Amino acid sequence: VSLKPYNTFGINVLAKYFASFSNIDELSELLSHHTSQISNHKLILGGGSNILFTQNFDGLVLKNELKGISLINEDADYYYVKAAAGEVWQQFVQHCIANNYAGIENLSLIPGNVGASPMQNIGAYGVEIKDIFHSLEAYHIQDRKIVIFSLNDCQFGYRESVFKRQYKGQFVILSVTYKLHKQPVFNTSYGAINAELEQMGVKELSIQTISQAIINIRSSKLPDPKKIGNAGSFFKNPQISKFRLHVMKEDYEKIPAYPVDDTYFKIAAGWLIEQCGWKGFRKGDAGCNPLQALVLVNYGNATGKEIFDLSTEIIQSVEAKFGITLEREVNIM
Ligand code: FAD
Ligand code: EPU
Repeated sequence: VSLKPYNTFGINVLAKYFASFSNIDELSELLSHHTSQISNHKLILGGGSNILFTQNFDGLVLKNELKGISLINEDADYYYVKAAAGEVWQQFVQHCIANNYAGIENLSLIPGNVGASPMQNIGAYGVEIKDIFHSLEAYHIQDRKIVIFSLNDCQFGYRESVFKRQYKGQFVILSVTYKLHKQPVFNTSYGAINAELEQMGVKELSIQTISQAIINIRSSKLPDPKKIGNAGSFFKNPQISKFRLHVMKEDYEKIPAYPVDDTYFKIAAGWLIEQCGWKGFRKGDAGCNPLQALVLVNYGNATGKEIFDLSTEIIQSVEAKFGITLEREVNIM
């Protein structure tokens, strides 16, 4: 089976086996001893928007098609909304906004599915899913049982969770329950939001207008994967000490930096890459997005290896110029 339609980079690789599941019985059957004998190598796939395939997948790809959204509980302050892992993230966001479940609006227009949202604790415009997360249900592949994870169990960090680290490959996330505000708490801490709201002529904030502002900002600089293959930011924004930032500012006054805590700052990897001259670079069909240098793109027929090699060249040049080693954010297969 070609995986080209199943990854937003549009990389044309083959999977040896491919199956989808739309309920737990089907998943359990697919993970049974019988199929383990066919292939021990498995990949749980959502929207394929955070993966770069660099070679054919010699195993079983399991496409998650679990569906359903329900309000399972509420208290004075919150709605508890459970979504199945195969729901499309943006459709879930729209469902919440339409029902006035607040807190998710800053995460509008992120591609992919609900089930992947805890994997890297997706984040944008001052909000991460850890801020609205209540719990999740996951299927333990070896023990064949369902385990519930609380907020603390997930150990969320910047683009990190237990599912990317110690439990990598061990669980299939089945559903996620989010805790959404009854009274909205608007987060416009990210500079570009206020500028966009002003541009839109918005007088009174609402979750609807914030969502629209974010959709406008994102659409203006992030390539639409339906048109140009990409997986969003290819690298993480590096964190450096206050002291190091101070030293860098002597040479680069305008370096974009945001405090993480008392000692560390996050700096913009897109800016570092742009300074090294990569913005708009293209070699064959692999390139560095002209509007946002943190995004690597496939203009058509690039191979995963070509994109990966470009990312290595970028890492090396940023290292040579700034002494900072960028870490890839996209999952490399
Ligand atoms: P996939 O790519 O299918 O999978 C990602 C990883 O999670 C894989 O390792 C996969 O095996 C695993 N996985 C997926 N589902 C499950 C499951 N149910 N159980 C167990 N493991 C699973 N990300 C952000 O954080 N913020 C952004 O602002 C952002 N912007 C983006 C913009 C664009 C244009 C694009 C293309 C991507 C962007 N991303 C962003 C990255 C991406 O959208 C997110 O990482 C998203 O959560 C990936 O979801 P997915 O369903 O496509 O995951
Ligand atoms: N910048 C440049 N040149 C560039 C790109 C960016 O100078 O080519 C500068 C911008 O001018 C700005 C700063 O870098 O001052 C930050 O840029 P932007 O607001 O576009 O955000 P980012 O730091 O590049 C991060 C996330 C995005 C998320 C946005 C908004 C990471 C790795 N990326 O990008 O997430 O949408 O902030 O919150 O943290 C993703 O993970 O796939 C993703 C798109």
